[in-house]
Amino acid sequence: MNKITIAIDGFSSTGKSTIAKELAKKLAYSYVDSGAMYRAVALYAIQHKLIDDNVLNTEKLIESLTHIKVAFQYNNSLKASEIYLNDVNVNTEIRSMIVSNAVSIVASVPEVRKQLVALQQQMGAKKGIVMDGRDIGTVVFPNAELKLFVTADPLVRAKRRFIELQATQPSITMEEVAENLSHRDLMDSTRTHSPLKQAEDAMVLDNTNLDRAQQFELAMQWAMERIN
Ligand code: DC
Repeated sequence: MNKITIAIDGFSSTGKSTIAKELAKKLAYSYVDSGAMYRAVALYAIQHKLIDDNVLNTEKLIESLTHIKVAFQYNNSLKASEIYLNDVNVNTEIRSMIVSNAVSIVASVPEVRKQLVALQQQMGAKKGIVMDGRDIGTVVFPNAELKLFVTADPLVRAKRRFIELQATQPSITMEEVAENLSHRDLMDSTRTHSPLKQAEDAMVLDNTNLDRAQQFELAMQWAMERIN
């Protein structure tokens, strides 16, 4: 069967990764969470005290880029890929609020983006890939056969994220989550380099009122139209 590239972009907590993982599973494609890669670099910056009170030592981070190795490794028992930062599994750590609060500023550094985009393009060189993020259809894979732009009502998104985070961070509040989301929405869509924007040829998937099965059916239909 003809293999294609599927690029999925959208704001935080719109359910991009759920759609991406389901598509990848059904089509037997690889799935890459590009946000996890930016989160891993943000974690590195935190660990090395390159970020303090939302102020990033950009110069130091750029100098450190040659020492930052971000890679995915498949975990057979989880049946999913996990992210490694310099050979250490950081799959859970990158989801903490500390990382969530630091990641937008780290992702706005052009040198960071350049390094991670090159890696993402390498991962997708053979097609048969579903990648989600903010600039996948516009910058990473501008020739992707299928581009999805996923949206949902901000309140619905905050509620979904809150429920998800409560499992691992019981002290988290809905206000904190909503504030972090709206801050990241603003940062991600207004930054100078590769801001989040809908590719002209993207299909818009608004899932505010769609359940998981309905949105998957729609995305799968679009994918099959491209594959055939
Ligand atoms: O998808 P996520 O929320 O885990 O992404 C974390 C951050 O990384 C998000 O605030 C924006 C940034 N990001 C990006 O700039 N470009 C991407 N392709 C993916 C994520």
